[in-house]
Amino acid sequence: MHRFFETSKVVAAYFRTRPKTPPEVAKKAIDFLGKRNAPDEHGKYGRVADVGCGSGQSTEMFAPYFHNVIGVDVSHNQIAMAREKNKTKNVSYMVGASEELPFEDESLDLVASGAAVHWFDFKKFANECNRVLKPNGSLFLHSYHSFPPHLGPVDTQRFTEKQLSRILESTQIRTREFKGLLPTHPRAKNVFEVFLQIYDIIQSAEKTFEPKVCKIVREQNLDNVAELLSTWTGYNEYLKRKSSNTNVQTTQGIVEDDILLQYVNDIKKLWGMKDLDNDVINVKVMLDVFAIASARPEPII
Ligand SMILES: C[S@@+](CC[C@H](N)C(=O)[O-])C[C@H]1O[C@@H](n2cnc3c(N)ncnc32)[C@H](O)[C@@H]1O
Repeated sequence: MHRFFETSKVVAAYFRTRPKTPPEVAKKAIDFLGKRNAPDEHGKYGRVADVGCGSGQSTEMFAPYFHNVIGVDVSHNQIAMAREKNKTKNVSYMVGASEELPFEDESLDLVASGAAVHWFDFKKFANECNRVLKPNGSLFLHSYHSFPPHLGPVDTQRFTEKQLSRILESTQIRTREFKGLLPTHPRAKNVFEVFLQIYDIIQSAEKTFEPKVCKIVREQNLDNVAELLSTWTGYNEYLKRKSSNTNVQTTQGIVEDDILLQYVNDIKKLWGMKDLDNDVINVKVMLDVFAIASARPEPII
């Protein structure tokens, strides 16, 4: 099992910088679920589990649609953070693994998972979904695939339209170069391939793939963007390789003169902001969300 997201330092950075999944994503799951499963007289369903919930980024959005929303994660630190930050009455969190879900047979209307299924043993997870979902229940898997995100300056007044479009294009080229320099964890590759292999493995009465459910658009300062990128598996694989080769010094968790620092500095130069501190540079961060929805999956032998 891959345990990168577990240390309290990563959990804190993850909570500070990773985006919450927008409500449109929950709506998409409910629309699919509603095809074969009607809500009760209160307009709600019984129970949903958000598996690999982290510190709750993809969990709370289900609260309006279910009596009980349960976030499950294998990491004790993620669950501790989720519980500490939770303010929603019908949402709770528990430690548990996707391969051995802590639920009774046929007790859930929906199993959801955000930016996490590629870390699971998918065969065991699918079999568990078959066991814990009601016969008319659904599985909903979503993630954002444009990681690292598209970035642009918030302060666009200082540029002409032509300059701005050149800056955005150059930023995208630089982002692609940065991504190309980082090792891709074989499991993270699944995300870049929009869970295509996972989609193919699922056997069920009905399944759909939605390439663009919605966009996540946020504003963060450049320091936060650097921290967001520092939670990326590819970057952490790079750090591991680098620290086994050289004797590196670190500042705030980011290795001196490494490629993340260079990337951030190059962006500042491209935007004509190299003399400004990172924490006063506001950045528009954009990510596309894709999703797979499926009727209760068949067991995989
Ligand atoms: C990239 S985070 C996603 C968190 C959150 N769902 C989100 O949308 O940002 C992946 C999460 O999956 C959890 N995870 C990895 N393998 C798991 C497994 N086998 N069972 C349950 N959770 C797992 C990790 O601990 C981590 O919190």
